[in-house]
Amino acid sequence: MPDQDYMNNVLVFDHPLIQHKIGKLRQKDTGPKEFRELVSEISLLEAYEATRDLPLEPVEIETPMATTTVYELAGKKLALVPILRAGLGMVDAWLSLIPNAKVGHLGVYRDHETLQAVEYFCKMPEDIEQRDVFLLDPMLATGVSALSGLEVLRKRGVKSIRFVCLIAARQGIKAVHEVYPEVPIYCAALDEVLNDQAYIVPGLGDAGDRLFGTK
Ligand code: URA
Repeated sequence: MPDQDYMNNVLVFDHPLIQHKIGKLRQKDTGPKEFRELVSEISLLEAYEATRDLPLEPVEIETPMATTTVYELAGKKLALVPILRAGLGMVDAWLSLIPNAKVGHLGVYRDHETLQAVEYFCKMPEDIEQRDVFLLDPMLATGVSALSGLEVLRKRGVKSIRFVCLIAARQGIKAVHEVYPEVPIYCAALDEVLNDQAYIVPGLGDAGDRLFGTK
């Protein structure tokens, strides 16, 4: 893939509310309670933006006054697939907007020595291949977890997948788009580098630890 082409199909949400909240989220003094709230609030705003192009169909209804045409979501049903554990922090906000979405769970951890993804849990809705899927993980760092999630979903026959994160590193976007250029990547911030332990810099540290207070 020619350099920079990997940035096609990437959308960085520049909404002022999202940017303000990302700033607070990054701060090291933000404790788990506020961190969880911010992840949720940003996820809600991202869900609003990332669902902008869902298809609608006209439906005739009756108001108390007259018959009129309204618009309902059409197309395939939706599913959310958070990558455990940090992806869990995004799910409730998405469900509050799309309450009928089914939720699959994918457990992937990053082996700190090999930096490879190890899949330890996978439970998907039975009809996942018939759904449009939003794959959720706050951090897109090396791309290893995202690639593992995308491979699982493609193997199950899922055709439409969008990847939604909070902070994406260029390296991760490149890694994902080299294999799956057709998968849109939505993020709230784009960071330039990873450190030697594959953490995003400046990033926000370990999203799972900060969500659940495990460090
Ligand atoms: N996962 C995290 O939680 N943080 C990073 O910086 C990279 C991956």
